[in-house]
Amino acid sequence: MSQTLKAVRGTRDLLPPETALWNRIEATARSVFARYNFGEIRTPVFEDTSLFARGVGEETDIVSKEMYTWEDRARAQSEKTQSLTLRPENTAGVVRAYIEHQLGESGQLQKLYYIGPQFRRERPQKGRYRQFSQIGAEVIGPPSAGSESPLRDAEILEMLATLLDELGITGWTLHLNSVGSITDRARYNDALRAALVPVASQLCADCQRRAVMNPLRVLDCKIPADQPIIETLPVIADALDEASRAHFAAVLEALDAAGVPYTRNHRLVRGLDYYTRTTFEFTHGGLGAQNALLGGGRYDGLSEAIGGPNAPGIGFAMGEDRLVLTLQALESAAAQVLADAYIAPLGESVNAAALALARELRRQGLRVELGDGSFRLKKSFEAGNKSARRIVILGEDELASGILTVKDFSSGVQTKVPRAELAALLAEPAN
Ligand code: HAM
Repeated sequence: MSQTLKAVRGTRDLLPPETALWNRIEATARSVFARYNFGEIRTPVFEDTSLFARGVGEETDIVSKEMYTWEDRARAQSEKTQSLTLRPENTAGVVRAYIEHQLGESGQLQKLYYIGPQFRRERPQKGRYRQFSQIGAEVIGPPSAGSESPLRDAEILEMLATLLDELGITGWTLHLNSVGSITDRARYNDALRAALVPVASQLCADCQRRAVMNPLRVLDCKIPADQPIIETLPVIADALDEASRAHFAAVLEALDAAGVPYTRNHRLVRGLDYYTRTTFEFTHGGLGAQNALLGGGRYDGLSEAIGGPNAPGIGFAMGEDRLVLTLQALESAAAQVLADAYIAPLGESVNAAALALARELRRQGLRVELGDGSFRLKKSFEAGNKSARRIVILGEDELASGILTVKDFSSGVQTKVPRAELAALLAEPAN
């Protein structure tokens, strides 16, 4: 016997009724983005590897360990073998497109959103997959368009609070921090490295390595025994220069005015190198270890890092898989969508007429499940009860008289209706 094939570890199939929830989330996101005047961008799922190396940062976990990268062989003399990578995130791709299409030339802010798959070779667990979907948005443009303004940061955060509310996700926490400018961060890195020297030997093995290689990552440590020591380390807020402090204060002031609640989190430094100033995450307690619903921040130097013009920006990406998990927990399993009617042909001789009836009803906007004339009536009732609110019986007699029998599954009431009135009856809510 040949071996059965399965979806690759860390990937999965999404099936109905869960896909209905995915569609609802995407429709809500699109509607909120439209109200904030965002347009959709669709970039390729693979890019030149160097985009992520230069954009996200060579030293990050994402680039150094988690990317799906391959040498793409030349197919013609005119082509070169090229290192390509399945996108692990989409901000670098959006900024690449901004540069490539000279979107900054308009002098306006570009407000772009995307929905699509991303790929990271992480250890799979609940809420963490190797192919996952993000819903994200970016605001980017020349400084003259106001792209550096703290109002952009506050507006993005207020939009996220609105989107989560409209999705019906309650109980989220917004963690907010400022990682300052590139020089602020370098200064903080030095302070942290120095402060870690006397205490590193008391920390976990991972932190001992991080203390030397990448001190900022010590702040991500979740080991309980390390926490009291990490709490004594210097905080980045103290390393910010005057301009970064004023920027962050203005973000907080606008959030207070709009009534968006937040918690300041000095340890939120994020795992991608492009961040400057505002960084944030929205978490949800129902998610367990992978509790970040979304993350984002400002990236004022990213465009230049990948060869573009000065184009400050800010954005976020939501983990769509995690939004689904949160909503499923809140709604205790997505309710199955029932069809308006199950059409049960009595005998194979009426199969063709049943298809015609189904077509008639579907064209009037009804959701219809079509049975089969080879089923006994009992089997049709069982199948109908699982998939629809009502069953419509169509035999030779019904066809000849034009009077159909309809049974409502929830009330058990059976009625006879002329064919011309059938669609109106089926459109009524079930009793
Ligand atoms: P990120 O924090 O790496 O940021 O990812 C954003 C969100 O994607 C996470 O909060 C999480 O919900 C989801 N996510 C990440 N990895 C996985 C995974 N393996 N499985 C399931 N969900 C996952 C970024 O990607 C930035 N590009 C966000 C951004 C946009 N910053 C500025 N603009």
